[in-house]
Amino acid sequence: MAQRPVQRRPIILVDKPFPESHTQWLSERAEIIFYEGNEVAAAARGAEIEGILWYGHGKVDDALLSKFPNVLVVSNFGAGYEHFDTAAILERGLPMGHTPGCLSETVADFAWGLMLCAARDIVGGIKRCESKDFQHVNPNQLGKQVSGCTLGLIGMGSIGSCVAKRARGFSMPVLYHNRNQLKSEEEKECSNATYCPDINELLSKSDYVMLCCPVTPATVNLIGKEQFLTMKKDAVLINMGRGKLIDQDALVDALSTGEIGLAALDVTEPEPLPRDHPLVVPRDDLKGKIIISPHQGSATLETRFQMLTMSLDNLIAGLERKRLPWLCVECDGMKGQTEDVEMGNKYYTR
Ligand code: 8YV
Repeated sequence: MAQRPVQRRPIILVDKPFPESHTQWLSERAEIIFYEGNEVAAAARGAEIEGILWYGHGKVDDALLSKFPNVLVVSNFGAGYEHFDTAAILERGLPMGHTPGCLSETVADFAWGLMLCAARDIVGGIKRCESKDFQHVNPNQLGKQVSGCTLGLIGMGSIGSCVAKRARGFSMPVLYHNRNQLKSEEEKECSNATYCPDINELLSKSDYVMLCCPVTPATVNLIGKEQFLTMKKDAVLINMGRGKLIDQDALVDALSTGEIGLAALDVTEPEPLPRDHPLVVPRDDLKGKIIISPHQGSATLETRFQMLTMSLDNLIAGLERKRLPWLCVECDGMKGQTEDVEMGNKYYTR
């Protein structure tokens, strides 16, 4: 497609800095005003700000939006947007965009890595090798089998499906629980995954239970005391969704009493957890049973760049009062968001 002429760079509010190369790319296309640590200065330019692009997971709520009355669009750098107060955004008639799909393979790669780390104690092994006291390989330090075991996926959207496809290489039967059953061709592609409309069936049969679903009022504390009692005693729980999906106090109890074997969390509530939280500084009864990574699922340079271009495309479309290419479902039917239109008339686009 022919390059469009540069007209002007929009003035946008961004919560926190991107990696240097990404910031440079973005600042060629927009004037960035950072928010975190610069709240007063940003608010002083409140009326000039035309769009909000949110990288992290701080709240975009009524209090924040009130400081920027001329904003035309809100763009989330990420697929999940529960940190957006959708009611406050829609009340102002603002379209919201997000970046679904582009990160699914990358998150699935990480999910398998995290699962393997937990099962095979890869982190513990590395730490032992780094220790000054390490003199002899102990052949009795054993992990849990992965290949051939049953993987239970809760949430079979784009990320869950990418995780499921990889299971074939590990000869793992896949069970999944989802609002809807996939089409049979899709199930085939997902390593012949078997649908479990009853979540308890999945929990009781799975060696590995992985959460890949969004957090909604219906999924808060989806996994709590009752669910832990249903799981196998040596089951491994992996959370790739959001911290709020798990009742964390119940998780501490379940690990401590041996209701389940291990947990591997890429997400927690809050993030990070307080430094003295039992999941962070494990008591003796929790040692070796928990690993936590810092919300790293989509964190590759390439995927994050793709997310940046999608979130900027959403933002520019909103500034031009055109339909956002990746519109949040809450905006379906919203005035100005009903037709597909070509973008890039007024602002500097790719
Ligand atoms: C974050 C995510 O966007 O897509 C999501 O829902 O949670 C992540 O990819 C990323 O960590 C940047 O904050």
